Amino acid sequence: MTTPLAELHMHIEGSLEPELILELAERNGIELPYADLDDLRSRYEFTDLQSFLDLYFANMAVLRTAQDFADMTRAYFARAARAGVAHAEIFFNPQAHTARGVPLSEVLDGLADAVSASEAEFGVTSGLIAGILRDRPASEADALLTDLLAVGAPIIGIGLDSAEVGNPPSKFVDVFARARAAGLHVVAHAGEEGPPEYITEALDLLGVERIDHGIRCLEDTDLVQRLVRERIPLTTCPLSNVRLRVVDTLADHPLRDMLAAGLNVSVNSDDPAYFGGYVDDAFAGLVAAVGLTAEEREVLARNSIQASFASDDRKAQLL
Ligand code: ADE
Ligand code: ZN
Repeated sequence: MTTPLAELHMHIEGSLEPELILELAERNGIELPYADLDDLRSRYEFTDLQSFLDLYFANMAVLRTAQDFADMTRAYFARAARAGVAHAEIFFNPQAHTARGVPLSEVLDGLADAVSASEAEFGVTSGLIAGILRDRPASEADALLTDLLAVGAPIIGIGLDSAEVGNPPSKFVDVFARARAAGLHVVAHAGEEGPPEYITEALDLLGVERIDHGIRCLEDTDLVQRLVRERIPLTTCPLSNVRLRVVDTLADHPLRDMLAAGLNVSVNSDDPAYFGGYVDDAFAGLVAAVGLTAEEREVLARNSIQASFASDDRKAQLL
């Protein structure tokens, strides 16, 4: 039997497919700077993280109402269920919406509507993780956490994402300490474009339970040994790494070496609408490019479930 997958690293705004972008623009009367679907699709060529983030944030303009957020999230669950995902922990970027004048309540209501029904509708258990935009001031992250706690937001944790280089984890010590004290799970993107030191900072200064990406740990053998020893989960995203030029091709991706080194890695889609596919596409690509075996896929699936924040009962059901 193949073990189902937990998807631990995906940004719900990164699941907004081009067709849905145009549909929501029409529904909300928003003028987009694209002539048509082909024109929009032609923009999906990236040179680095920032070139992707520019399009990712621009396309969020079509998300206005709770219904928009719910529709986007249901579309992800439907596709993820087909990919073999049984549990999903979903990032969203509240600041990217509130900064455009969308009330936090619209964002939370829409996401919560889809997440609360995901098990009944799609057989996928799920949770929400509020991703802090690390290129914005720490004071804004503090205010966001205050707001999320004040309204009793239906989140299981906080994360840290957006432009990494120049925005080290050390910038966010206070907000992560407050989140942990409030009983939230904490994770952070580190070592995607940023140096291995950011991974160490995320662990030691933020107290994170998982590292998102973490691929640049391979530049520091002491750090690799520590990650293996402490079984720190690394939520890797091979298709993303290719599309954002962290690695040249899928054949060059070090996932198998990471597994062989004993690192606790999982495979995730990151921003599936932007990076050429969902998690089943990532596995198919790895089988074709590096000959990923059925045994390795099993280890990756089990890692994903064990590293999830699902209940012990749910984990036992899936393993
Ligand atoms: N936000 C969405 N996708 C991201 C990624 N791959 N890295 C950092 N921030 C992101
Ligand atoms: Zn990410």
